[in-house]
Amino acid sequence: MDLPLEKRIFHLTTDETSYLLFVNDFGHLENVYYGPKITLSEPYDLKEIEDLRRAPTLSTGTNVSYDEEKDPYFTLDWARLEVGTPGKGDFRGPSLLVEGDKGFVNDFRFVSSKNIVRNLDKEDLPYPLKFDESLQITLEDDMTGAIIVLRYLVYKKSNVIARDVVIKKGNYRLHKALSFNLDLPQKEYEVLSTYGAWGSEGHVATHELVPGVFSVKTQAGPSSNRHNPLTIVKTLGDNLENGLMYGFNLVYSGPFEMNFELTPDFRLRINGGINALMFYKDMKDAEGDFVTPWAVMTVTKRGQNGIKANFHQFVNKHIIRGRYQNKARPILINNWEGTYFNFTERKIHQFIKKGQELGFELFVLDDGWFVDRDSDYAGLGNFDVNKKKLPHGIDGLAKYAKKHGLKFGLWIEPEMVNEGSDTYNNYYEYVMQVEGFEPSKCRHQLCLDLRYREIQDYLINKISTLVKSANISYIKWDYNRPLSDFGTGNSDAGTFFYDYTVGLYRILREVMDLCPNVLFEGCASGGNRFDLGVLCYFPQIWASDCSDAIERIRIQSTLSLGYPQSTYSSHVTTSPNHQTLRRTSLTTRFAMAMLGVFGYELDITHLTPLEERQIKEQIAFYKEHRHLLLYGQLQEIKLNPIYNKRCFCVINPAKTESIVVFINEQVDILPHTLLIPSLGLDETRTYKITSNKQYSNIKDFGSLLKFVLPKHIKYDGFIINTLSKTHSAEEMTKNEVKLEQVVPGTLLNSGKVSLYPEWGGRGISDETSILGDFGAVYLHIKAID
Ligand code: DGJ
Repeated sequence: MDLPLEKRIFHLTTDETSYLLFVNDFGHLENVYYGPKITLSEPYDLKEIEDLRRAPTLSTGTNVSYDEEKDPYFTLDWARLEVGTPGKGDFRGPSLLVEGDKGFVNDFRFVSSKNIVRNLDKEDLPYPLKFDESLQITLEDDMTGAIIVLRYLVYKKSNVIARDVVIKKGNYRLHKALSFNLDLPQKEYEVLSTYGAWGSEGHVATHELVPGVFSVKTQAGPSSNRHNPLTIVKTLGDNLENGLMYGFNLVYSGPFEMNFELTPDFRLRINGGINALMFYKDMKDAEGDFVTPWAVMTVTKRGQNGIKANFHQFVNKHIIRGRYQNKARPILINNWEGTYFNFTERKIHQFIKKGQELGFELFVLDDGWFVDRDSDYAGLGNFDVNKKKLPHGIDGLAKYAKKHGLKFGLWIEPEMVNEGSDTYNNYYEYVMQVEGFEPSKCRHQLCLDLRYREIQDYLINKISTLVKSANISYIKWDYNRPLSDFGTGNSDAGTFFYDYTVGLYRILREVMDLCPNVLFEGCASGGNRFDLGVLCYFPQIWASDCSDAIERIRIQSTLSLGYPQSTYSSHVTTSPNHQTLRRTSLTTRFAMAMLGVFGYELDITHLTPLEERQIKEQIAFYKEHRHLLLYGQLQEIKLNPIYNKRCFCVINPAKTESIVVFINEQVDILPHTLLIPSLGLDETRTYKITSNKQYSNIKDFGSLLKFVLPKHIKYDGFIINTLSKTHSAEEMTKNEVKLEQVVPGTLLNSGKVSLYPEWGGRGISDETSILGDFGAVYLHIKAID
């Protein structure tokens, strides 16, 4: 390489990390280091770089020498390449596969670099906003003539680097175009990935890597609930709070793949982007360059909580955009689990009136409001209101809500249709199907082929007109099936999913532009399209159709690995829960729901007086602490296993205020005192700790009541049943159980401050904590000096 050293080294740095690129003697671009921040000598010293990229041995064995004459020991199989390609001795899974007229041999080498990336707003795919620095490096492959531009965006404070690839138009065919490629040095690695299904999203799988390839892939159409593109690489022994971890994600909503290949000599190659299955693109006839989705990556020494801190800040500052960035979200009442399709205008009025009384801010009318929509068998694709159900229309309801001090929100599912609906009839040629064959249904519905401008324009117009037809301030945008029958009938089959996703993004962009004040919530039968691509348009997404608080512990804590709590909505629903039939207390349901974008989804017109009182208190608590709950740093704290509890907290940036939630997994009769774990709050301050007020159900004491009740009252009879609806056990026994304590910061951080002792089989007092299976207690801790 004739270039001077300073033109061959690119050191991208964030507050805590370094990404070091180097153009080697042959012109290949290598990532010689990615990890906690390092400083390099100035001026650059080639020896330092050589130390970082040294090959493990000088024996070539069966390695292919790239250029035997110049350097017999240099082989692409050992080089940490920014782009992995086949044909010149790199035997790992490629990140790019280009077929030229001489075949599949690729050899990309350095051409030029620029410290600027421009005009991203004009591109089809969304990108993370407000980067601090950017870089682009152009490489050329002499074999095929392909030219690519690798682009980097740097986000200093959140310690994230974004990366994509632009492939220039030319006489070649793409077979694989991943967004990034990164090689990590020899170590023992594990990968955290997610898996799930409808209602059961957010399971974490931990794979100890062994030589070979471990891939996380989906091909369902949306990014999907099967797997999320969020993946984490940990070095063995890492945990919640400590250790070196790398996090990866894609700003993309289509089928993806993330590959983790451990070489036989234990080096790790990671690459990811568009799923290469069914993908190809002829660049000769392309309309323009092909641009891959942005991949984002971070690295931390602070374990999972470090990954969370970086990604949460990144998403809140650079992915979420528009009016709701960093802003309060209204506390909503949604009618879905309260009524399903079965509602009348009168019932909705009752919801709104009661909503006002309880302190809600937004009423959301879910599925079932338009013509023919009395079940999920029909109606999708109609945008006219069902006047039989709602004689005064959407406008009438929105006005009614306004009159009662509530904003109004509406459910739509524009990407899908039922047979016989207006959209189905009028835009039949855009219904996804293979010509001559019956398309397969899911939830009785079919998909629209969003690749076409005509259908995009139709939907943009329909949605924006609907939104403007009434005072609508929130839209829940649903999407209830994966894609099938993706017949193309033309030559664009290789980019079907990419083009669909680009079409979807155009619709979202235009609708957002036309309705800038509306809060949009994404939904895909819950979490079937929960990704950074959608979050560039919708600031929040319904995380799962499972609203059970205990299932939500897993779903939300898995999402929180890469997404802040301001992005996933979580609702208090009824007990027993509709999806699991599990019974949990209102306190537990509230504790989990307040750790997401908070709302309720149950028939509030049939609450007991006690439930009403509790809900009012919960809403008031949430209003008081909304910013901390939505934007404080959410962490999970590992408790001693003897407690049988999970612990989550949110902490403000100044580290002077926190809300801590403890959720019981199972009652344990073993006596122990629950201690508040150290939260790392500012030690120079004094803190007031206040717990929630305990509400136990008198009926939960069962036949124990016999021993305290007057003889003529039956413990399971009418009187106790009636009383349980109006008074908690504490109220009846005049024991208010609510901890309030003032402690110095040093003591609080010592982890030795205790909560009230738990119920141990007998005795009740104003200091007895009764949680029961799945019970919860939460604390507000705030500096008072
Ligand atoms: C699926 C969503 O996830 C639910 O919340 C609800 O909106 C239904 N669709 C309505 O059909």
